[in-house]
Amino acid sequence: MAQDSLTVTDNRTNQTYTVPITKGAVRAMDFRQIKTGPEDFGLMTYDPAFLNTASCQSSITFIDGDRGILRYRGYPIEVLAEHCTFLEVAYLVLFGELPTEKELKNWVTEITYHTMLHETTKKFMEGFRHDAHPMAMLVSTVAALSTFYPEARDIQDPNNRLLQIKRLIGKMPSIAAMSYRHSLGFPYAYPDNDLSYPENFMNMLWRMVEPKYVATPALARALDILFILHADHEQNCSANAMRSVGSSHADPYLATAAAAAALSGPLHGGANEEVLKMLDEIGSQDNVPAYVKKVKEGHGKLMGFGHRIYKNYDPRAKIIKWTAERVFQVTGRNAKLDIALELERIALEDDYFIKRKLYPNVDFYSGIIYQAMGFKPEMFTVLFAIPRTVGWLAQWQEMLTDPEQKIARPRQVYTGHEVREFVPMEKRTPMAVSANSR
Ligand code: ACO
Repeated sequence: MAQDSLTVTDNRTNQTYTVPITKGAVRAMDFRQIKTGPEDFGLMTYDPAFLNTASCQSSITFIDGDRGILRYRGYPIEVLAEHCTFLEVAYLVLFGELPTEKELKNWVTEITYHTMLHETTKKFMEGFRHDAHPMAMLVSTVAALSTFYPEARDIQDPNNRLLQIKRLIGKMPSIAAMSYRHSLGFPYAYPDNDLSYPENFMNMLWRMVEPKYVATPALARALDILFILHADHEQNCSANAMRSVGSSHADPYLATAAAAAALSGPLHGGANEEVLKMLDEIGSQDNVPAYVKKVKEGHGKLMGFGHRIYKNYDPRAKIIKWTAERVFQVTGRNAKLDIALELERIALEDDYFIKRKLYPNVDFYSGIIYQAMGFKPEMFTVLFAIPRTVGWLAQWQEMLTDPEQKIARPRQVYTGHEVREFVPMEKRTPMAVSANSR
């Protein structure tokens, strides 16, 4: 009998089955053969929220959550954050190798070429209310790009796919900046193709009447590092949305909009906004113990803490902490940092958090930097979506080129009624619950 296999006995039938183990996993379909009789559908695996189910094979990002390790294409995140630019990392994430000098130059030129938005995007944006959430504007506008590029539906053509990938990476900061300026009532600023990716983004956010925007180098570099840290994170909720929607062969603009929508939730990318709200609510270092006590009693969560995969310090949070120091040298210290540091200190010494292996995640410190740089909390998740677009596209491309992948369609364990006899209107009884709660 092969050693890399699993033998299971079905106690209902006393039959024994052997299924192969490959790369530490068994295939759920191998269990379908386990039946009580010819009428039986076969055994399924039940895994709500994918706690222990791999939905794909991937060579993009490696995470060891117990040891706090994150690597893109084999390179540790710390090394990439120290030595690379974001677009260099984007190339790595998408194509698997670091670019040569010439490849990088071409890549940067190509992305820069695609920063411009169709002029009617402005009109579209103007339709949003002044207080619309920037993330909702981003999601809708990315979906609307689909209307400008109908050829994007030809997802089988690799050249066509690459063109849409470049467009999305180029245009994401332009849309993000537009949503930011819309919420402030400022006129939209056009991209400046002389500038680097983060500098151009800052230009579109903050340029007013000056003829040329000049970014503070330390802030542009900090933004670039934050973009590197957020580029990909394997099969998280939004990557899973990207793959799932993309698996129906929807075009990449629509799939990216779905991924961005998934990112917007407070349990995922929306957490950075919630962290700031939480720090505001705490107000001062002295109030931290009482807040932690409240959380332990079951009133809310410590936002920016805990992770499905990391059961150790999130390596990105470590890098963000030292990036924060560099930003504060320019902007002055954000007082919220002291509350956050105290919160981290108390939580990491507390049994509740130790037992559950709850550590700060990427969102815990990123918002403090963003706020020091002048962003409103509503913008934080938008800032996350810009670099994560690279990861979504890499995951999308990998899914489409994987011969094993098909349209994503989970099974269910049905718990409803067996077939019922129809009840005519005059014999129906009112339900105990109100219509609103149904
Ligand atoms: N504060 C207090 N308690 C927590 C927290 C927290 N932030 N996170 C988890 N717990 C507790 C849970 O209540 C649960 O306790 P129990 O065993 O007594 O019931 C235990 O720790 C396990 O938590 P789960 O919710 O089962 O963990 P899961 O893996 O499903 O959730 C998640 C992970 C969603 C990130 C969760 O930790 C959370 O809600 N954190 C706060 C939101 C946040 O920061 N999200 C950003 C994640 S990073 C990202 O997406 C970019």
